[in-house]
Amino acid sequence: MSEMYTKHAIKYAKVVKDNIYNALFERPSTIALLDDVEGKDVIDMGCGPGAYAEWFIQQSVNQLTCTDLSDEMVSLVKGKYGSKVRAYVQDIAAGLPLEKNDSADIIVCPLVLHYIEDLTTVFKSVHRVLKTGGYMVFSTHHPFADFECSQSGNYFNRERVEEEWDTIGVPVKVNFYRRSLTEITDAITSSGLMISRISEGCVDERAKELSETTYNYLKNNPNFIFIKCEKVRT
Ligand SMILES: C[S@@+](CC[C@H](N)C(=O)[O-])C[C@H]1O[C@@H](n2cnc3c(N)ncnc32)[C@H](O)[C@@H]1O
Repeated sequence: MSEMYTKHAIKYAKVVKDNIYNALFERPSTIALLDDVEGKDVIDMGCGPGAYAEWFIQQSVNQLTCTDLSDEMVSLVKGKYGSKVRAYVQDIAAGLPLEKNDSADIIVCPLVLHYIEDLTTVFKSVHRVLKTGGYMVFSTHHPFADFECSQSGNYFNRERVEEEWDTIGVPVKVNFYRRSLTEITDAITSSGLMISRISEGCVDERAKELSETTYNYLKNNPNFIFIKCEKVRT
């Protein structure tokens, strides 16, 4: 796992509170795919420092469960939200083995799935844990955007990519997987989940004041993709 989410967890938490990519693009675009969450049982997979946890608590969800591979991130969430959240370390490549069948109304998984090599287990587990009528919303790198960093030149090959990101103001090495849209949608539908919405997101107008260049980039280019999928039957 990248040091971005371990050694630099506190710095990362500060930056994503009000930056363009997370606060003014990713979160509003994911939240736009959620129905009313009040009173719902929610799981946040790959919760990071808890930006979504804060929002779910404000919306008065019933039970909130947060999981992340990073011990540092889970500690941040526990420290901030205490008994309002059940938080534990879990590698979601193995799904959600500690969660009961048919127990969640909503599962979110923002900006995590590109760190998972094989998506089959995670979607099967989401299907098992969701109540019938429940749904998952996730965001991940847009396959068309990531194709720019393909080494093979074959869009349909899954590839491990290594980059340095300046998210926290200094370059930090990050590894992720780029894959085709077909690979993502096949993993969803073969789990039994049904895709009900696909969005490419919309950057908030307020981003213009922070950086006109980034705002224009996100207005004109695909960057993340946002997918809602539902459990229509057991
Ligand atoms: C870009 S951050 C997103 C955090 C949060 N979802 C948000 O949108 O604010 C990615 C998070 O995924 C977590 N992560 C990476 N690989 C994971 C895995 N295999 N299982 C669970 N969490 C993982 C990282 O520790 C990090 O907290």
